[in-house]
Amino acid sequence: MAQNKFNWQLINDNITLEDKKVLSDFILNSNRFTNGPKVKEFEEAWSKWLGVKYSVMVGSGASSNYITTSIVRELKGQKGEIIVPPIGWVSDISSVINTGFTPVFVDVDLETMAISYENIKNAINDNTKAIVLVHALGFNGINDKIIKLAKEHNLLLIEDCCEAHGAVYKDNKVGSLSDMSCFSFYFGHHMTTIEGGMLCTNNKEIYELARMFRSHGMTREASEQTQNKYSRPDVNPLFTFAVPGYNMRSSEINAVLGLTQLPRLDYAIKKRKENLKIWLENLNPSIYFTDFDCSGNSSFALPLIWKGDIKDKICKILEDEKVEYRLGTAGGGNQARQPYLENYEFKTVGNLNTSNLIHDYGLYIGNHTELTNIQITNLCKKLNEV
Ligand SMILES: Cc1ncc(COP(=O)(O)O)c(C=O)c1O
Repeated sequence: MAQNKFNWQLINDNITLEDKKVLSDFILNSNRFTNGPKVKEFEEAWSKWLGVKYSVMVGSGASSNYITTSIVRELKGQKGEIIVPPIGWVSDISSVINTGFTPVFVDVDLETMAISYENIKNAINDNTKAIVLVHALGFNGINDKIIKLAKEHNLLLIEDCCEAHGAVYKDNKVGSLSDMSCFSFYFGHHMTTIEGGMLCTNNKEIYELARMFRSHGMTREASEQTQNKYSRPDVNPLFTFAVPGYNMRSSEINAVLGLTQLPRLDYAIKKRKENLKIWLENLNPSIYFTDFDCSGNSSFALPLIWKGDIKDKICKILEDEKVEYRLGTAGGGNQARQPYLENYEFKTVGNLNTSNLIHDYGLYIGNHTELTNIQITNLCKKLNEV
């Protein structure tokens, strides 16, 4: 077997032998592999786990991002601004650009790595249509003030929970607190379906739109009522396209894996949380920022934000210890500094000092269920000697 070059990878092998047996049994005994009953079963199980009415399984977390901004366009009209975080993932911004909106960056708080109430408030104007709030690295970023602000200004609030499965705010899981939310089941997240994602909502109209956007915009994906709404005498009811949709469907195989992984998710969340606690307790706070707001977190990865110009020394320690890491933390740091934005219009309200600090003085390393307490404390010791 090929030797892995890391002793501490971003993620452990999170598809077990048992998962593989379930998958091979399914393949041997089934003849339907495209979006079907298993996808539906996983969607229902996911809705129950999350505490929402509706979930729509898609091919990736990014697909769910793309569908959310497409829904904003259906409900709020074309053109306008969407408030976005610099710390998150490229598809939080590219979805906004690709649906014709202008991304408006506001800065994050260091404690939560999420955009703050004050910064969001300062960016709202008559053109604002929606807010994309990312729970980066699994820290909870939502609160009652943000929810109220969105309602007061009639803005759609989108939570990106692709790194935050099982994070909570006041006993509610994140992803159940906004108009719509996104999850990723990419290899390396809290659970995996290989590739896969979910769009969740409590709103029937959004649910119907999400189902149609997932599947070419076809009305036969939606309720009879919606089918009637779009029915035209000269258009085949089976090929009636209500919205300019995509093909972002999942296969049954991904859903079967989701159903076998879901029962392990709560354990993964608990273990990842414990790992983060040990990590932050053992790092020297005079060298590293350790004051994260961990209330309700569901750790995606272990953040390392250093004070002073010690990046090269830190990287050398991690390389010597064969620890895999990603500079800039979530999504590579400040999205507003990425080349893809050079040819597109975007705005920034206020400064992005904290996002730049995370970009220049931050990285993350993997957090997963197979890490041991000794492994974590030993690495902290080495890093504290920097
Ligand atoms: C915050 C965030 N949003 C969206 C995505 C996209 O998910 P996927 O890789 O499943 O497309 C990711 C991926 O890691 C992410 O971290």
